[in-house]
Amino acid sequence: MKTKLIIFGITGDLSTRKLLPALSRIIGTGDFDDLSIIGVSRRHVEQYELLGDHHEQLNGTTAMYTMDLANPDDYRGLKSYIDLKEDEQAIFYLSVPPASSAQIVELLGQAGLNSDNVKLLLEKPFGVDLVSAQDMIEHVGRHYDESQVYRIDHYLAKEMAQNILSFRGRNALFAHVWNNTAIERIDVIALESIDIEGRAHFYEQAGALRDVLQGHLIQLLALTLLEVPEDLDWNKLPDARLKALQCIQPADITKSLRAQYNGYRDEVQNPDSQVETFVSVALSSNDPNWQGVPLTLTTGKALERKATEVRIHFKKTNGAQSNYLIFRIQPHEGIEIDLVTKKPGYDQDFETQELTFNYPEETNLPDAYEQVIVDAIRSKKSLFAEGGEVVRSWEIVAPLQEAWLRGESPLRFYDKGDSAKSLFA
Ligand code: BG6
Repeated sequence: MKTKLIIFGITGDLSTRKLLPALSRIIGTGDFDDLSIIGVSRRHVEQYELLGDHHEQLNGTTAMYTMDLANPDDYRGLKSYIDLKEDEQAIFYLSVPPASSAQIVELLGQAGLNSDNVKLLLEKPFGVDLVSAQDMIEHVGRHYDESQVYRIDHYLAKEMAQNILSFRGRNALFAHVWNNTAIERIDVIALESIDIEGRAHFYEQAGALRDVLQGHLIQLLALTLLEVPEDLDWNKLPDARLKALQCIQPADITKSLRAQYNGYRDEVQNPDSQVETFVSVALSSNDPNWQGVPLTLTTGKALERKATEVRIHFKKTNGAQSNYLIFRIQPHEGIEIDLVTKKPGYDQDFETQELTFNYPEETNLPDAYEQVIVDAIRSKKSLFAEGGEVVRSWEIVAPLQEAWLRGESPLRFYDKGDSAKSLFA
């Protein structure tokens, strides 16, 4: 089907870093000849400048459209420009701040750009707290049916995140032990070595809780805890994730830690900033399979290393055992199990070896943004967050947000390059 992808926010940072490279690779496969791209901007932008390194690949399929995002007439103009036929589809990709996003949705709807063959591809943040997320969902719902709405949480689309499910659904050995009789603790971490990279305005509104923990980490946790759908039916994933999330209890402030790296306040030019660049919280689930298992989520910027992992700690039956299973989401995507073996030689000594699955070097792992665009084109919704999931994840973190507003749980400070471990010391 002919697809017109209309991108609001094409001149933004995310577009340069993720979208244009992803589109370039998608077009490069040669399988998407029916895709054309319209970049919407407020000011005239030279297309070759915007496309930069991707000019050669994307120039033939891309056009720019300049409009005033607040002017309803301009949306009618956009509608004529797109000239969508019944056997075509349009995807409006909104990579803009929440306030602009609300206005664009409203004006697209008013202009009648919401027929059945129109989809909305929405970039986070989906609100800043529970109430604003509910408002946003309700607002979008006035013009678009939930089936037309694709909310991106790019962590769900990472190759290794999808592999958590394949691993759980297709390996009998582990299916039997995936519960609280065998598992002692689960840690989900997303440590970054980069700092806020100049995104001062954005980060002052966000912080680590909203930016990464509330969406990305809670979704990875849901994939780890959910009941794997029968026959590994990917279409049933959103419901399965929601069920898992409904069992996770709202966070307990006494089981959390927040911190900020030294130098952050100068960077954002706010000497009193209370915004956290690191957060960790231990959650719990009332699912009978998971009761009593601490579920710790940790994320932070400017740390010693980059590592996104789901770590499963099995219960030991004696202290000398190894008990780790790690899903390495990135970098070095793979699965690792620590195995104690006998050390070769005359003595009965032991050593811990890694039993690992790594992709061969030449493997082309699609970037998460490629996956979400392709899935939106193909109407596959399993790797997108449904409204209910978004609401539940805000409910889970709400007690932390409320306590922080009341000034409870004071910020700790760390130096750039510190290890996450040192923050718990
Ligand atoms: C984004 C956050 O959603 O995810 C960024 O806004 C963060 O702050 C990024 O750096 C991490 O994504 P990835 O794919 O690089 O792990």
